[in-house]
Amino acid sequence: MLVNRPPMGWNTWNTFGEKISDSLIRESTDAFVRLGLKDAGYTYVVVDDCWSKRTRDPENDRIVPEPEKFPEGMKAVADYVHGKGLKFGMYSCAGQRTCADYPGSFDHEFLDAETFASWGVDYLKYDFCYKPYGLEGQLLYRRMGAALRACGRDILFSACNWGSDDVWSWIRSAGAHMYRSTGDIFDTPESFHNIIDSQLPKLGTSAPQCFNDMDMLTVGMFGKGLVGSTGCTLADYRTQFAVWCMCSAPLMLGCDIRAMTPEILTLVTNRDLIRIDQDAEARPPMVIPHPWYQDGRMLVKQLDDGTYAICLANFGDRETELPLIFADFGLPNNAGYDLRLHDVLDGEEDRVWREYLRQKVAPHDCRVYIATLVKR
Ligand code: GLA
Repeated sequence: MLVNRPPMGWNTWNTFGEKISDSLIRESTDAFVRLGLKDAGYTYVVVDDCWSKRTRDPENDRIVPEPEKFPEGMKAVADYVHGKGLKFGMYSCAGQRTCADYPGSFDHEFLDAETFASWGVDYLKYDFCYKPYGLEGQLLYRRMGAALRACGRDILFSACNWGSDDVWSWIRSAGAHMYRSTGDIFDTPESFHNIIDSQLPKLGTSAPQCFNDMDMLTVGMFGKGLVGSTGCTLADYRTQFAVWCMCSAPLMLGCDIRAMTPEILTLVTNRDLIRIDQDAEARPPMVIPHPWYQDGRMLVKQLDDGTYAICLANFGDRETELPLIFADFGLPNNAGYDLRLHDVLDGEEDRVWREYLRQKVAPHDCRVYIATLVKR
């Protein structure tokens, strides 16, 4: 199965945790289409943990959907999602229990993959709690990788072992299409800043067919829901979303999409940002450090049409002017090229810069440009 671009969709966990149901999925699917998320490229509607009964069916050992949450079963939900032209995702775990203590797929990998396929599942998030003592995580992901290949349906394999066991060094070989690289995100600036800083040096192995998954976005949560915590500001969400896009990370929304504010909807459907995320080459950004601007994250990413995406993010609490010297990403003054910058977020007029760029960036906010070479 070819997964050429970072997957985009919505996942229930960040906001709803165990409070999930057939009606929540149907309403969210409707909102997906009504709000234009589908047109913007979002495809997967994913039910995370807590969808099943606490124990397997004693007769046939299969996992059973919790009838109070999903009275018509999961195939009916999948059919509804498919009927809206979207794809349906579900969740299981490589260990004996899921993280929220429901049956895991350990030692039932092939049976469960077959069950998911029979329900019409298109995406499986595969978690890492309750791993049997002494067994290697790598082996467990190989097992589910093999089971999904055998199940007779294209199911995107979304591994979620939180970056443990040097996941990037083996996960691609196990057949995963994306791999969670960090512990769980919370809706605070510190949480997503830490994720970004931990992954910027590790994006070298993220590429088409197997993308580094920096976790579901908290964009738009404003502190509401399971991982709500202190919440973030709109400036923080602009930065979170923009940097995820600079990293070609999967874009899995985690807010209540039925209740998104207009500003958040505009942000997550920003065509230029999504174009940066979905770039065919999916190159990691070059990170351009500067000794005086410790709170600045200056990122430059080559895009497949010869342009560059530039992001100046300010993680600090004060407004700062962030610099970017073009020579630092391979474009010295004597190359004979300037850059015409198209502002992606704020709609400022295009402007040509020679040799360097310097821009004011508000606290916690960012500036993002698509830069075109201009021969002098
Ligand atoms: C782990 C994962 C989360 C979520 C929960 C569900 O913590 O990392 O993304 O799936 O389990 O219990």
